[in-house]
Amino acid sequence: MNTLLSSVLLAIFAMAAAPGALATSVNGRASNFSSTCTKISFNSANNSLTATCELSGNTGTETTTIPLNACVGNDNGELAAGSNFSTSCGNISFSGVTLSATCENPTGNLIHTSIDLNSVLSNNNGVLHCGV
Ligand SMILES: *[C@@H]1O[C@H](CO)[C@@H](O)[C@H](O)[C@H]1NC(C)=O
Ligand SMILES: *[C@@H]1O[C@H](CO)[C@@H](O)[C@H](O)[C@H]1NC(C)=O
Ligand SMILES: *[C@@H]1O[C@H](CO)[C@@H](O)[C@H](O)[C@H]1NC(C)=O
Ligand SMILES: *[C@@H]1O[C@H](CO)[C@@H](O)[C@H](O)[C@H]1NC(C)=O
Repeated sequence: MNTLLSSVLLAIFAMAAAPGALATSVNGRASNFSSTCTKISFNSANNSLTATCELSGNTGTETTTIPLNACVGNDNGELAAGSNFSTSCGNISFSGVTLSATCENPTGNLIHTSIDLNSVLSNNNGVLHCGV
């Protein structure tokens, strides 16, 4: 009898705990794309980024690709929000969520620079977008 009661109580506690655990995995974090996107990959052939991102309301995911030249520019030798960074930057690499490159500044000097793509990209209901 006591064993049966314990089992029932354990089952009730387990059911009560589950919704709380699920609730913490959803949205309200969309401005930081890396917190709601997975499989983030960089294609060096065309400087594009592909990621699988959560839809609003935890209704699934979508995989999209965005050309980083639409979101990232060369601002006086530093990677920054803007466009067409690849026309004046070389040695382009990607790690985690950080894009790195060697960019030319207005006086012709080459500067090694990096940018956290969370500062220029967002997850807009599953779709990668420029801007945060
Ligand atoms: C983005 O979210 C990740 C994971 O939650 C966190 O580690 C990182 O610090 C955040 N970055 C910014 C710029 O908010
Ligand atoms: C860039 O390359 C990837 C992988 O080959 C492809 O999916 C994507 O459509 C290409 N173009 C752009 C603009 O991202
Ligand atoms: C970026 O490059 C595209 C394609 O070459 C061009 O149409 C656009 O005007 C450029 N934008 C800027 C801000 O230079
Ligand atoms: C090229 O990039 C790598 C890795 O980001 C860096 O260590 C190296 O200094 C860069 N080379 C030049 C010439 O800027």
